[in-house]
Amino acid sequence: MTPPAPTPSSPLRIGFLGAGLIATYHSKSLRHSGAPVERRGVYDPDTARAEAFAAASGHTVYATEDDVLEDCDAVYICTWTNEHPRLLAKAAAMGRHVFCEKPLAFTTAEAVAMAEAADAAGITHQVGLVLRRSPAYLWARHLVTAPEAGRVMAVVFRDDQFIPIQGHYASTWRADRNLVGAGTLLEHSIHDVDMLRFVVGDVVAVSANTANFHGHDGIEDVCTASLRFAGGATGTLTSVWHDNLARPSLRRVEIFGERRHVVIEGNDWFGPVAWIDHDGTAGSLEGDALVDAVTPMYDDEENPDGAFVRAVLEGRPATPDLWTAVEAHRIVDAMYASAAEGGAAVAVEVGQQ
Ligand SMILES: NC(=O)c1ccc[n+]([C@@H]2O[C@H](COP(=O)([O-])OP(=O)(O)OC[C@H]3O[C@@H](n4cnc5c(N)ncnc54)[C@H](O)[C@@H]3O)[C@@H](O)[C@H]2O)c1
Repeated sequence: MTPPAPTPSSPLRIGFLGAGLIATYHSKSLRHSGAPVERRGVYDPDTARAEAFAAASGHTVYATEDDVLEDCDAVYICTWTNEHPRLLAKAAAMGRHVFCEKPLAFTTAEAVAMAEAADAAGITHQVGLVLRRSPAYLWARHLVTAPEAGRVMAVVFRDDQFIPIQGHYASTWRADRNLVGAGTLLEHSIHDVDMLRFVVGDVVAVSANTANFHGHDGIEDVCTASLRFAGGATGTLTSVWHDNLARPSLRRVEIFGERRHVVIEGNDWFGPVAWIDHDGTAGSLEGDALVDAVTPMYDDEENPDGAFVRAVLEGRPATPDLWTAVEAHRIVDAMYASAAEGGAAVAVEVGQQ
């Protein structure tokens, strides 16, 4: 059964595949966005999770993924990573608009196939690289691309968290390479790679090393990489999954322009973002003041889920789309290739965006 195409005057019928942590985040975020949605099916092979999600969100537990896909206009793919390509292909073939979590897949080749399938189906697609809407990163980009900052010379990006198979994650699949694909670089720091592109620009070459302290097969828990950017800057990314439960996901980003220094720290969304210029002028923004400063910079809106729903209803592309994720996958793949060669320099394939 093919549902009628949604129009701006009718709510978008939403389904969920996967009812875990990130599905819950998106469901709450949809509510906060105020976007016009009709809650339809949710499917998760973990029935208890599906039922808890349904009770909290207003969705209905359906017996199969096909039931969910039949009865929606747009679907959230929030399963563990190995299921993303198969479910995206199915949803696209049925003409369902898709919000797919990151990483899209284990490899760039699979991610490209997903983006091509979505485009061929003519659906609106968005990926969960949510930091693209973070006020902190938008403001940092604004600061470092201003002419008075000069060219970006170097960037230091550090991201650490306790290995997310404990604590509030309440799941162990991130230790199973068949479900997650790899460790901290692919599963977590694909966000960081995307932000390095967003703030500093395209990456042309990388050199990386990985380590595996926990010993889960194929799940690196340390990645240190050096990056060369198209604009001439160089930078480093350090990504660590440790056992320090006092440190959930924490990032610190330091960007050195020729005449401006910028630091993002604290909260990924609300900063603070601090800067100091060659003449001693300094500033810092966080919280509501930071949000106010970047509000005019949004093409659409701060809330990723509200933006997705409204893009679908208005029949236009959403951002960031699957192609944005493909570019991050290219860099991640190059880093793994480098690590496999003991840290040799590896060129990043030039993509479409
Ligand atoms: N954008 C972000 O910041 C962010 C944050 C966390 C997780 N994620 C991504 O979201 C995805 C899910 O992560 P999570 O933390 O929610 O994991 P989770 O373990 O909390 O939930 C995943 C759920 O998917 C279910 N599932 C597995 N196969 C399924 C299938 N075929 N159909 C329906 N449900 C299925 C599992 O039973 C599980 O309940 C991962 O790809 C992860 O990388 C993104």
